[in-house]
Amino acid sequence: MQIPDIIIAIDGYSSTGKSSFAKIIANEFSFLYLDSGALYRGVTLFAVENGFINDQCDIDVSGLEKALENLDLHFGNGGTYIGDRCIEKEIRSLSIADKVSPIAAVPQVRAFVDKKLREFGKQKRIVMDGRDIGTTVFPDAELKLFMTATPEIRAQRRAAEMRAKGEDVRIEDVMKNLQERDYIDSHRETSPLTKADDAIVLDNSDMTMEEQMIWLKEIMAGRFGC
Ligand code: DC
Repeated sequence: MQIPDIIIAIDGYSSTGKSSFAKIIANEFSFLYLDSGALYRGVTLFAVENGFINDQCDIDVSGLEKALENLDLHFGNGGTYIGDRCIEKEIRSLSIADKVSPIAAVPQVRAFVDKKLREFGKQKRIVMDGRDIGTTVFPDAELKLFMTATPEIRAQRRAAEMRAKGEDVRIEDVMKNLQERDYIDSHRETSPLTKADDAIVLDNSDMTMEEQMIWLKEIMAGRFGC
C-alpha cells in the first residue's frame, strides 16, 4: 500500500489512547511520531523544578516566559530531554499531570511549544497527537482524527499504564486528574481543545487497537486511494 506524504493530526481528550494509536500508525506507515503533550509536560517539569509554579498552581508567568528563552527542551533517542537529561519518566508522573493543564493554558508557553512543533511540519509523513494539532498547529493537515472514549475506560487505561511503570495510583485520583485536565484544556482561552470541523471522530471505548487500525485504513483508502 502506497501511503501519501501527509500529516496526520490526532486530537482528543486525555487518555483516549491517542499516543498509543499514533505510535502504531507511525510504525505501520513509516511516519515520524511526535508527542506534543510531552513538550507541555517538559515545560511543566521545568517550571516546577525552578519555582515558577507552586502547589496551588499559581504561575510566575513573566519569570517563566523569560526562562523559556534558554530552555533546551527537545526530543531525543530516549524520548523527551532538557539539555542532555532524559526527563521521560518524570514527565509521566501524576504530580506533573496535576500541573500540566494550567501551564499549557499560558499563551507564552503555547507559543514556545507551537514554534517547535511547526518546525516538524516542514516535513510530511508525520503523525502528531495533542489537543490543538488539527485546529492550531497544523490546520492544513491532510487527515485529522478526534479521539474520545468513556471516562471510566480512560481512567482504567491510564491507571494501568502508570502502574505498569511502577507508580502506585488510585483510579479515583486518575479519574479526577483526567476530568480536571479535560475541563481546563477545553475551556482555556488560547487554542482550547475542540474538534476541528474537518476532523473525523473515533470513539474507541469498545475497540481494540487492531479494530482502530482497520477503521483508519478504510478511511485512508476512501480518501487517498491507498
Ligand atoms: O497528551 P498529554 O496527556 O501528555 O498532554 C498533557 C497536557 O498537555 C494536556 O493535559 C494538555 C496539554 N496539551 C495541550 O494543551 N496541547 C497539546 N497539543 C498537547 C497537550
